Order: sequence, then C-alpha cells, then structure tokens
Amino acid sequence: MTEQVKLEYQGKIFEFPVMRASTGEECIDIRELRAKTGLTTLDPGFGNTASCESGITYVNGEKGILRYRGLPIEIVAENMTFVETAWMLIYGRQPTLSEMKQFSQRLTNNELLHEGLLHHFDAFPANGQPMSILSAVVNSLICYSPEIMDTTNEEALRNAIAAIISKVRTIAAFSYRKAVGLPYVYPDPQRSYCDNFLHMMFSLPNKPHQPTEEAIKALNLFLLLHADHEQNCSTSTVRIVGSAETNLFSSVASGICALWGRLHGGANVAVFEMLQSLVQEKETVPQFIERVKKKEVRLMGFGHRVYKTFDPRAKVLKKAVLNLLDAEHVSDPLIEKAQELEQYALADDYFKERNLYPNVDFYSGIILRALKIPLNMYTVMFAIGRMPGWIAHWLEGNQGIRRLARPRQLYIGKTETKFVPLDLRMPE
Ligand code: ACO
Repeated sequence: MTEQVKLEYQGKIFEFPVMRASTGEECIDIRELRAKTGLTTLDPGFGNTASCESGITYVNGEKGILRYRGLPIEIVAENMTFVETAWMLIYGRQPTLSEMKQFSQRLTNNELLHEGLLHHFDAFPANGQPMSILSAVVNSLICYSPEIMDTTNEEALRNAIAAIISKVRTIAAFSYRKAVGLPYVYPDPQRSYCDNFLHMMFSLPNKPHQPTEEAIKALNLFLLLHADHEQNCSTSTVRIVGSAETNLFSSVASGICALWGRLHGGANVAVFEMLQSLVQEKETVPQFIERVKKKEVRLMGFGHRVYKTFDPRAKVLKKAVLNLLDAEHVSDPLIEKAQELEQYALADDYFKERNLYPNVDFYSGIILRALKIPLNMYTVMFAIGRMPGWIAHWLEGNQGIRRLARPRQLYIGKTETKFVPLDLRMPE
C-alpha cells in the first residue's frame, strides 16, 4: 500500500502519496497540492524539489556515490571511453561492440562543419568568449540540420545526437584556432574522438600533433567524469527549455549558457585563478582561508549542493592528475598548492561543520593544464563532456509525462495600484 504524508491546514487533513525511488531518496507527490489545498510550495534553488522522474544518473551526496545507468563512476572511469559512456547515457545500457562501431562511424560521418558555419567564426572578435561562441554556433547548427525539428524521425534524431557530440569538438577546436590566428585543422577520420580533438587543437599544417596515450586517456577520463550529474543547473535548464518542445540543438545551447556561470561549470576557471594567485604568493594558504571564513571569498572547487562528502569524481581526477604529471615528467606548482589548500581546508572546523569537500572542479583545471588546454577553454571542455548528459535528459524529458515547465511564485510585490498620469507622478 502506498504510504501517505498528512498535511494539516486550516483545520483539514490532506493526504499525499510517497513515491518510491528504485534506490535513494523518496518523494512526496504534491502534484495535487494546489488543487486540493490552494497552496503551493516555496523552495528557492530547488534543494527539496524533484523536478522529474529520471533513470539516467544516480547520486548519493551523503555517501559520495555516483552511478551512470547503474554503473559506479569508478568502474566507468577505469574501463570505458568517453564515446562508450556517451552511448550508455543516451541509450540506457552498455553498448555492444557493433553498436559502438556504428556510433563511432556516425560520429566520424558528422565530424565536419558545414563550410557556411566557418563564416560565423570570422565574425567573432579574436578575444571573443569561447562559451558564447560555442553556444551561438551550436544553436546555429539547426539552420544546417532542419530535419531534426521532426523528432519523430528516428534516423534524423540519431544523426542529430551524433552530430552534436561530434561537431561540438570541432567547433571548440576551430574557435580556439581562430582566436590564436592559426589555420583550421580538419578532423582526421582515422583518429579516435579524443585524439582527434587534440589533433584539431594542436596540429600544424607542417607539423602533425600526435598526443601520447596518457594524454588521450586523461582527456577521455576528464570528459566521461563530466558526462552527467542528474538535475544540476545546466541540465535542468536543458530540460526546462526542451519542455517547450524546443529543438535539441537550441536546448543544449541554453545548457552551455547555464554552465558558464562561476558557481557551476565556470568554477574550473575560478579554481585555476585562485591557485595561480596563491602560487604567485599574493597571500599564504592560511591567510586565504581566513578570508574564506570571513566570507570575503569562496574556496572555489569546494562544496556542492548534493555532495556532503568527497565528490567521487574529484577523487578519480586527483589520482589521474598525479599519474599524468608523472607519466609526462611534468611538475606543476599548482598541484602542490592545490594539495596544500585541500589538506588545510579539510582540517579546518569551518569546512568540517559545513561538510565542504573538494568537488570535480578542484582538480579538473590541473589536468586540462597538463593537456595544454588554454584557460579560457576550460569551461568549453566541461561542455563537451556534459553534452551526452544534456542529450540524454532532453530525450528523457520528451518521453513519458511531458509537461511544460512552468514554476509558480510567492508574490511579494505591490497589490493593485492606481494609475497616475505621467505629468502628475512624483518621485517615490
Ligand atoms: N567556500 C566557502 N564557504 C562555502 C563554500 C565555499 N566554496 N561553499 C559553501 N560555503 C558555505 C556557505 O557560505 C554557507 O555557510 P553558512 O551556513 O555560514 O551561511 C554554507 O557553506 C552552505 O552553503 P550554500 O551556499 O548554502 O550551499 P549551496 O548548496 O547553495 O552551494 C555551491 C553549493 C554553489 C557549489 C557552493 O558550495 C560554492 O559556491 N562552491 C564554490 C563554487 C564551486 O566550486 N562550484 C562548482 C560546483 S560543482 C559543479 O557545478 C560542477
């Protein structure tokens, strides 16, 4: 029998069913709350609100568990490539060898940009923000693939999914090449997804770039660790935009905009800037932490809305960063500073009392730096990684119960006011 939660209001008792999760937190189903009681709920930041039912990613923030389609992130990180992870997130299960081959072929078939799109890069200033270029160009893809507007066409949809995942990497690399005044390097169909991206970023017409196995592995890891994280800010944005039956390209373009913010995907840039200023010894770690505790600044890369312990992605990344630097024989003062900062913060009561631990962004900038990715591309790299998650959520939101996302509000503005003719209005 379904368990009920009772709500007493104005002398009446109302009952609402508790919905069972397959694992993890259960929910009170308040879909009939307003109709039955005339009440709505107030939950700024949605910390207590499940906006949907989802079967893609499971996060347990108290225990530090993250699973994609049921598979623990540590196992995904150890055994899968980014492309394999993308397929699994989007289509719901681990792909067979032949499904992987077909998907890889589709990605290769879609890796070029329409030549018409290249003019878009010419129009942006050289120092244009890569995240704004990325969202604008991804949104423009719909002009070149209008068939995706018909999402009942399964073949067109499969192609559109592959097109976004494949082209986003070409767009990112081309925008970088344009900004630094280098010629575009076209994708090489013989190379794997990550190898190809590094080739487009760093090959020269007279000097092909061959990344090391370690670099390709590290990039795969970076991307797959960012591939999904259930109903975060950018994913919720994609689902909300998609709920208006907005096309896939424009929905994920809005996700890119949401990801840009410093409290979300933009944190990887903020972490890097923080570590850099500490390395330049503008202040010591204890002095910086004192300012954090006075709430003058935040310790970027620490804290998470859901995780109240170590973010499992941060643990995997930290290990990978150390391995990569070791394999490439690079020593990085930033990693030493990050470790000093982490140890100092974890031992401090301010962070202990608030359950603030390193999140995925704390070490992600260092791995990107080791891959020679420029700082202004860090959040772009996150967006490339998050693309499969956004697509999976857009698809899920378009199946089953489809309802336009339209929250309510607690109105605290003026009640009905009188109109005053313009010439009679006095300053308030
Ligand atoms: N540094 C210092 N204090 C912090 C931090 C931090 N990084 N994060 C939270 N706190 C403090 C808050 O000031 C608050 O203190 P109080 O109780 O004395 O008022 C308490 O911890 C709770 O913080 P909230 O802001 O309520 O936590 P919320 O869940 O809203 O914020 C967030 C989560 C935005 C990620 C926050 O921890 C933060 O700003 N972190 C730094 C930015 C960052 O790393 N973002 C990346 C997140 S991961 C991602 O998006 C991929």
